Amino acid sequence: MLDAGSFEFVRSLIRERSGMVLDADKDYLIEARLEPLAREERFGGLSGLILRLKAGADERLVRRVIDAMMVHETSFFRDGHPFEVLREQVVPALMKARRDSAQLDIWCAACSSGQEPYSVAMTLDAHFPELSSWTVRIHVSDISQRMLDRTQEGAYSKLEADRGLTEQHLRRFFTPRENNWVIKDKLRSQLHPFRINLIEPWPYLPRMDIIFMRNVLIYFDVHEKRKILQRLRQVIQPDGFLFLGAAETTLQITDDFEAVPTGRGLCYRHRPE
Ligand SMILES: C[S@@+](CC[C@H](N)C(=O)[O-])C[C@H]1O[C@@H](n2cnc3c(N)ncnc32)[C@H](O)[C@@H]1O
Repeated sequence: MLDAGSFEFVRSLIRERSGMVLDADKDYLIEARLEPLAREERFGGLSGLILRLKAGADERLVRRVIDAMMVHETSFFRDGHPFEVLREQVVPALMKARRDSAQLDIWCAACSSGQEPYSVAMTLDAHFPELSSWTVRIHVSDISQRMLDRTQEGAYSKLEADRGLTEQHLRRFFTPRENNWVIKDKLRSQLHPFRINLIEPWPYLPRMDIIFMRNVLIYFDVHEKRKILQRLRQVIQPDGFLFLGAAETTLQITDDFEAVPTGRGLCYRHRPE
C-alpha cells in the first residue's frame, strides 16, 4: 500500500500534465492502473515507479503513466443524438454557407481510439454524396499517442464494432481482417492526426467548421474548462458548431457560446457579440 504522500504526488503529476482532476477517493484507481505498468517497466512495484517519477526527467515514463490513468471509453455513434443533429441540421447549414469554398474542416479533439471521427466520416459519406467533390478534412487529436496510433490503424474488435455499428456499416465501410474489422482507406485518408494536449499550447490549426470535444472537459476543473472553451472560440468559425458530451455544458463557464436549439442541447455556436 502506498503512503498518502505518494498518492498525492501522482494526483498532482496527472493534474499538472493532463488537467485531469483525480479526487482522493480514486486512489484505488491509481493502484489498479499503475501496478501493471510498474511491473511491465520492471520496477517490481508501484513504489519503485513513483521513486523514478520523483527523480524526474523521464518524459517517456511520465507519458506512459498519464496514458494509463486516462479514461479512453468511447463507442461508434456514441449517444446517437449528436450524429442526428450533425446529419439533419449542421452539415446542411454548412453546405449552404460553404458552397463557394467547397471545404469543411472538422476537429475531433480527444478522439480516443477513433470511433468518434469514423462515425463522423461514415455520416458524411452515407448521407452527403455531394461532399465527394469537396475538400473535407477531419483533424483528430488526443493526448495519447497510443490512441492516435489506434485511430490511424482503424482496426476494431468484434466487441468494439458491436458497440454502435450495424451490419450495413460493416459491409459498406469495413473489411474483415483476422478477428478485426478494419476501416476502409477512403475514410481513413480523411483523418489528419495530431498529438494535442488540450491544456498546453495548441499547434497551428485551421479555422474549424465543426468541433467535437466530447467527454473530456468533464475531467478538468472549471478554470481549465473556461480556458479551453475560450481558445475554442478562436479556433471555430463564427458560424461553426461545437459538440460537447452529454454531461458537459458551457453554462456557468463562459458566455462565449450559446446552445443551438436541437431538441436536446449538446451543440453550441458563438454567441453573437
Ligand atoms: C472518454 S474519452 C472520449 C472519447 C470521445 N471523444 C468520445 O466522446 O467517445 C477521453 C479522451 O480524452 C483524452 N484526454 C484526456 N486528457 C486530455 C488532454 N489534456 N488533452 C487531450 N486529450 C485528453 C484521453 O486520452 C481520452 O482518449
